[in-house]
Amino acid sequence: MGLPSYLKPYLLYLLFRLLNVTTTNSTKPLKQEAVLFGGNFPALYVIGDSLVDPGNNNYLLTLVRANFKPYGSNFEGGKATGRFSDGKTIADYIAIYYGLPLAPAYMGLSKKEKNNLSTSINYASASCGIFPDTGKQFGRCLSMNVQIDLLNKTIEKNLKKKFKTQSELSNHLSESLFMTAIGVNDYAFTYKKNATDANEFAIKLLNEFLIQLERLYSLGARNFFINNIKPLGCYPNIIAKTVPRGSCDDSLNLAIDIFNVQLRESLSHMHRTLSNTSFLYSDYFNFMLGLRGPSSNQVSSNLLNTTSPCCPKVYNGGSTTTCLPFSKACKEPDMFIFFDPRHPTQIANFMYAISCFQERQVCHVVID
Ligand SMILES: *[C@@H]1O[C@H](CO)[C@@H](O)[C@H](O)[C@H]1NC(C)=O
Ligand SMILES: *[C@@H]1O[C@H](CO)[C@@H](O)[C@H](O)[C@H]1NC(C)=O
Ligand SMILES: *[C@@H]1O[C@H](CO)[C@@H](O)[C@H](O)[C@H]1NC(C)=O
Ligand SMILES: *[C@@H]1O[C@H](CO)[C@@H](O)[C@H](O)[C@H]1NC(C)=O
Ligand SMILES: *[C@@H]1O[C@H](CO)[C@@H](O)[C@H](O)[C@H]1NC(C)=O
Repeated sequence: MGLPSYLKPYLLYLLFRLLNVTTTNSTKPLKQEAVLFGGNFPALYVIGDSLVDPGNNNYLLTLVRANFKPYGSNFEGGKATGRFSDGKTIADYIAIYYGLPLAPAYMGLSKKEKNNLSTSINYASASCGIFPDTGKQFGRCLSMNVQIDLLNKTIEKNLKKKFKTQSELSNHLSESLFMTAIGVNDYAFTYKKNATDANEFAIKLLNEFLIQLERLYSLGARNFFINNIKPLGCYPNIIAKTVPRGSCDDSLNLAIDIFNVQLRESLSHMHRTLSNTSFLYSDYFNFMLGLRGPSSNQVSSNLLNTTSPCCPKVYNGGSTTTCLPFSKACKEPDMFIFFDPRHPTQIANFMYAISCFQERQVCHVVID
């Protein structure tokens, strides 16, 4: 993966400082490590929310969309595809790492394209989550179970045509990579901080998530790339309202961390009990916390802006909580980790890819 030309040397320096990179390589290589980091997947199938939605919501009746400027200002010369960023998402960088084309939005594919595609599809949908009702107050979106229904439809209606025998199809699915990045909207819209027990909520949400993972398994998926849930409590839309202003909402982060810790344990369990599975667990939560700096109360860096979004340029957490078609954006998204109040910039997503694949700080193969 080449460095984007705009990546200035001091940003790289900053990156390595922020991520506290260690260069020692102490762990022995594992077989699963070769599979998951080796990069020989025929296809990438993406299940997720706005972190990785490449434009599915453009085709749904909803207000939660990003198919207008200033979104996409760094994407293929300035295309607002529906990605909630100025450029590539983490799903895009993962596809690039594995030498695959960027997974296109399922909703945007014609019947003909669906029948002739066996190298990646993205079902992710902004505002939705793991629970079927999450995010529905804003309009239509595809919740996790519906995304998997659509994947099932892809297999039944399209892939079965492309692969003539059942064993060719099974091989394709068992060799492909299935990535998930979903769950934060369940915390943003369904979890009520004072009214819900954090442990109970995490267990219910995790149970639903694991049911959906098992559905993926039953469809033939064997290789999983699972992102945990981001530290929502440190995102601009939340920290605009905290006291002292700019500090993270630690109780929200703690609630999310309960889910993440149990998720990590559950994946070990699944790896042991479901044959032939490989899991890559990505600690997106701590990656984003690391970008912010060492303390939830203070910001470590004065080179990258880690508290305010690029768009809207003036953001006080008031009535305008998103980047809108008429919003004024900052001139240099590369100086910010957040593009809008809820989503990272391309530069943050790029740093994620480096930290995941090159430094192996964020991504770990799940072992027993
Ligand atoms: C199917 O996809 C391949 C590779 O992307 C392309 O060369 C070919 O023309 C497509 N066929 C049809 C019928 O669209
Ligand atoms: C939640 O509880 C905190 C402290 O107990 C209180 O300050 C806050 O107003 C409560 N929020 C809601 C929405 O009830
Ligand atoms: C996939 O679709 C088939 C046919 O409609 C159905 O029998 C099967 O239960 C579905 N599988 C999952 C995991 O939803
Ligand atoms: C696991 O992999 C082996 C060897 O490829 C295969 O024979 C077996 O059917 C697989 N089992 C499952 C449940 O996929
Ligand atoms: C981040 O950017 C905002 C908006 O441009 C600005 O008001 C704020 O001072 C910046 N913060 C830091 C730490 O540079």
